[in-house]
Amino acid sequence: MWDGPHLLTTHDPDGDEVRALLERAREESFEPDALAGRAVATVFFEDSTRTRVSFSLAGQRLGARVVDWSSRGSSISKGETMTDTFWTIESMGFDIVVVRHGESGAARLLADHAHCAVINAGDGTHQHPTQALTDALALGEALGREQGWDFSGLRVAIVGDCVSSRVARSNAGLLGVLGAAVTLVGPEPMAPAALGEALGCAVSHDLDAEIGRADAVMTLRMQLERGAGTLLPEGYDYRAGFALTRERAERMKPGAVVMHPGPMNRGVEIDGAVADGPRSLIRKQVAAGVRVRMAVLEEAMRRSG
Ligand code: CP
Repeated sequence: MWDGPHLLTTHDPDGDEVRALLERAREESFEPDALAGRAVATVFFEDSTRTRVSFSLAGQRLGARVVDWSSRGSSISKGETMTDTFWTIESMGFDIVVVRHGESGAARLLADHAHCAVINAGDGTHQHPTQALTDALALGEALGREQGWDFSGLRVAIVGDCVSSRVARSNAGLLGVLGAAVTLVGPEPMAPAALGEALGCAVSHDLDAEIGRADAVMTLRMQLERGAGTLLPEGYDYRAGFALTRERAERMKPGAVVMHPGPMNRGVEIDGAVADGPRSLIRKQVAAGVRVRMAVLEEAMRRSG
């Protein structure tokens, strides 16, 4: 998972590193001055609410100076490239740069030549490692698996536009190393067999067959900005087959939970009554995100020496 001081991916992660990070986030025994004298930049070429605010808050809670940069209103409008923007910010003396970009591989490209720690806050359809850590923390705590972070026997259905989803890819690797059985569920173009093979997950095109078996159902946003609207035939009734409706939620196992990384499209992939209902972990996921990002920033700094 870690590449020196960088956190870029949870594809095929080291289980010990994952469990150590989750345990640190669970303990919450952070020193308020752990990052005193350090500077953290959040550099977002793509929009965000949860990830950027939680990294910013996490850095502040650890005593770092935090600067938030977004491409809107920046010199990107004058033609500056991603790499020149990154080097410009890095040259100001930041210790950690948290970067989000719409291109898969962007975080790796920057990290390979960086003099600071780079944390991938989401790159295209590729990876979103701190979201997967956040989801594992919320899920483990909700289902009583936080002692040892052993998810063996848990079935997690990741439902929807998996092919466009960096969250699905990051969760497949991370939940898998903890022992969970992950199934990608969606219409064939959104959950193709090849994606399941690449991620080591089962694939299903029948949510109604999976809904009663899953311990956790993680619904994904329809990613229209990544072309999700063109994946399905015109007139396709997505709601009929794959929305997490109130009726479907009622057929889930006792104790099974509903997750969504956000942002949600209520009434599209999930009904408001389910998102706000008793099974929902969605707000706990958001809260877990701050603890995870504190643990990530602390560890990145430790690894930076
Ligand atoms: N889950 C997630 O990445 O949300 P944001 O886009 O709001 O950061």
